[in-house]
Amino acid sequence: MKIHILASTDRPNSYARKISEYTSQWLQSNTEASTTVFLLEDYPTEDVVSGNYGKPSPRVKEYNESFLDADGHLFVVPEYNGSYPGILKLFIDYLPFPESFFKRPVSFIGESQGAFGALRTVEHLQGVFGYRNAIVYPERTFIRRVKKHFDPEKGLDSELHQTLLENQLTGFVDFTARFPRD
Ligand SMILES: Cc1cc2nc3c(=O)[nH]c(=O)nc-3n(C[C@H](O)[C@H](O)[C@H](O)COP(=O)(O)O)c2cc1C
Repeated sequence: MKIHILASTDRPNSYARKISEYTSQWLQSNTEASTTVFLLEDYPTEDVVSGNYGKPSPRVKEYNESFLDADGHLFVVPEYNGSYPGILKLFIDYLPFPESFFKRPVSFIGESQGAFGALRTVEHLQGVFGYRNAIVYPERTFIRRVKKHFDPEKGLDSELHQTLLENQLTGFVDFTARFPRD
């Protein structure tokens, strides 16, 4: 089973990237899933500034098709201005509509420097993915004060929060297995 993980910002050296790489390693070591991390840093943003909605450039098409070729999608999303990064919305707006996430399992990890761990971010995204007819996995992780509480080698510093994260990851793999692709 393939899980594609999206580090959902283009900010270099982001925590979204570090957490994506950590969860990818964890899933490979502890579950049957094969994982690939996609970085919005690698997204060809310069190809989506001219309003070519529905007519993606070859590079956008290639990025989108590679990302969508999975059984389930895990989004690691930082909080930017009380929501999710604009680059993530641009990425979603250039994906094929309506089929991209139709009945596809998706899961969210929010992270922020602030005290609420991107709760608003994830809830905003759940609305978007509800609109796109995705099947949203109910367990979510919110990592607050990310610089303090997350270590790229060890994960989260609280045993409880690390257990919740691991439960989400194993649960999402089991959940995804229940919705095989056509
Ligand atoms: C444009 C921008 C907006 C941000 N807005 C918020 C915010 O609304 N709330 C918050 O807690 N942190 C905010 N942050 C800080 C991020 O939470 C912080 O950068 C953290 O490391 C997670 O983002 P990262 O994955 O880019 O590293 C913002 C950062 C940027 C670059």
